[in-house]
Amino acid sequence: MDDEKALVSPRNTLNALTAKEWIQETISVWRQKGLGANHPDTYFERLHPAPYSYTDVARLVRFFSKPGDTVLDPFLGIGSTLKAAATEGRNGVGIELSPEFAQLSVERLDKELDESLLASTTQTVLQGDSRAVLKGLGENSVDLVVTSPPYWNILHKKDHKAKQERESKGLATRYSEDDSLDLGNIDDYEAFLEALMDIFRNCQRVLKPKKHAAIVVSDFREGPRLRMFHADIARLMEQEDWTLKGITILHQTHKRIFPYGYPTSYVPNIHHQYIVILQNNKKQTENAEA
Ligand SMILES: C[S@@+](CC[C@H](N)C(=O)[O-])C[C@H]1O[C@@H](n2cnc3c(N)ncnc32)[C@H](O)[C@@H]1O
Repeated sequence: MDDEKALVSPRNTLNALTAKEWIQETISVWRQKGLGANHPDTYFERLHPAPYSYTDVARLVRFFSKPGDTVLDPFLGIGSTLKAAATEGRNGVGIELSPEFAQLSVERLDKELDESLLASTTQTVLQGDSRAVLKGLGENSVDLVVTSPPYWNILHKKDHKAKQERESKGLATRYSEDDSLDLGNIDDYEAFLEALMDIFRNCQRVLKPKKHAAIVVSDFREGPRLRMFHADIARLMEQEDWTLKGITILHQTHKRIFPYGYPTSYVPNIHHQYIVILQNNKKQTENAEA
């Protein structure tokens, strides 16, 4: 068994991990791993109001795909998913509505990746509304979806502490000012969820049957109540031929603690995100690879 643990099983159809590596990744709590504030590669990340860490994404890419596969991110932001895809030897396609962030993603890949990585994989940045752009991608053309969508319109909230800090540094606090195609600008929560599901429906067509989507989100407060955003996504996707396979908690140990609510009411410091992992259960079409 020890020898077996160090080898990639010939029966492994999911990834290129050994038994030992595989088992480690199935633990349902991960510690978020950023680069550290002083790392030179944080320059581009900082220009975006809500990037995730490409090192966490790389773990998802390693687990849910094989080298040479293609990873899709319909909310590319500053390009973290494509950076992770390249470092793991996968191809990537990313869609971003904002022309500015799409352009910064291209520059980021160019700056932060070795030429050899860029040459040995294909990373494609497409600018536009994912609902329209996804229609131009082939059915069953990707092996994994990894993404983090806007968390409704929470970047608009006045008491958002991260927003106040960014404002004081003159950094962007929204994805766009008034672009109605930006999901972060939809005020009605149900309408926002419907727009999000429209994008995931398009992803389902493009994703091969039985392949996975890993969606990184946080729950958030709306006035006094908590919105279970991760649960809403899981519930709605299960209604559309996705199977909920797991929820990993990403513990954000680096976040600052604020005295929200003190001394009159309980208001949580939300120091974790959820990685909602779903499997595409759409029917296999004749020309689809399993
Ligand atoms: C949470 S951010 C993604 C950040 C990304 N994971 C990263 O690390 O940079 C969500 C992104 O979705 C983009 N977005 C919003 N509506 C969109 C749409 N309809 N089509 C494509 N992108 C959209 C926003 O501009 C924003 O950059």
